[in-house]
Amino acid sequence: MPQPPLSGFFITFEGLDGSGKTTQIHRLAHHLQALHLHHTVTRQPGGTPIGDRIRALLLDSKSAGIAPHAELAMMFADRAQSIQEVIAPALAAAKIVLCDRFTDSTEAYQGGGRQLGSDVVLAMHQLVCRGLQPDLTFLLLPDISAALARARRRNTRVTETTGADESRFEAEHDAFFHRVHDKYREIALREPNRVILIEGNDTIDAVHKLIVQVFSDRMPKK
Ligand code: TYD
Repeated sequence: MPQPPLSGFFITFEGLDGSGKTTQIHRLAHHLQALHLHHTVTRQPGGTPIGDRIRALLLDSKSAGIAPHAELAMMFADRAQSIQEVIAPALAAAKIVLCDRFTDSTEAYQGGGRQLGSDVVLAMHQLVCRGLQPDLTFLLLPDISAALARARRRNTRVTETTGADESRFEAEHDAFFHRVHDKYREIALREPNRVILIEGNDTIDAVHKLIVQVFSDRMPKK
């Protein structure tokens, strides 16, 4: 079944754990709010009741035995739910969708990090997401070690305050994150029109300014 016509604008945010994506999404959402532009903010894995359950299973460090292909399939199970419940309806209602991670994450983490390769991920994307592609992707790739230190500190804080354990990926070795990083760069080089690569350790304000600039250049004017 093909996707119905979707007239909104689909923006994804990608990057390593601790790259500051979530902060940038909130800043852009604030900006859209000030401009009275209708938008929806969501994330993957999660963002739907079913997706939140899949997320808990995927990120809990007790799930250490998940087979790489099972992990891959669960990421797409979550995504299918998110597209049906959140993304497609919002785009059909002509909203701007801001999504924290999408298929580029699967290509980088499962394709690169877990070494399953890009082909299987892109084939599953065609099957499960029926060709739905972001109109624009912001890929944040700051220095790997600073980003990881931030992500690990944050997860310890989350566990202490909510009891949720979301540390399975952050517990991976540095070599895993180097592979994720390299795959992300490969995607950016392959799709330079869609993917805006933001490297280095610019301030939150500087990155926000750049994102707003690119957004206003790219967002179709009504
Ligand atoms: P999350 O807490 O959302 O990380 P962050 O806030 O840093 O984005 O956790 C999501 C984790 O799941 C993150 O480590 C990346 C991983 N992931 C995959 O491995 N594959 C995927 O397809 C997606 C969407 C996420």
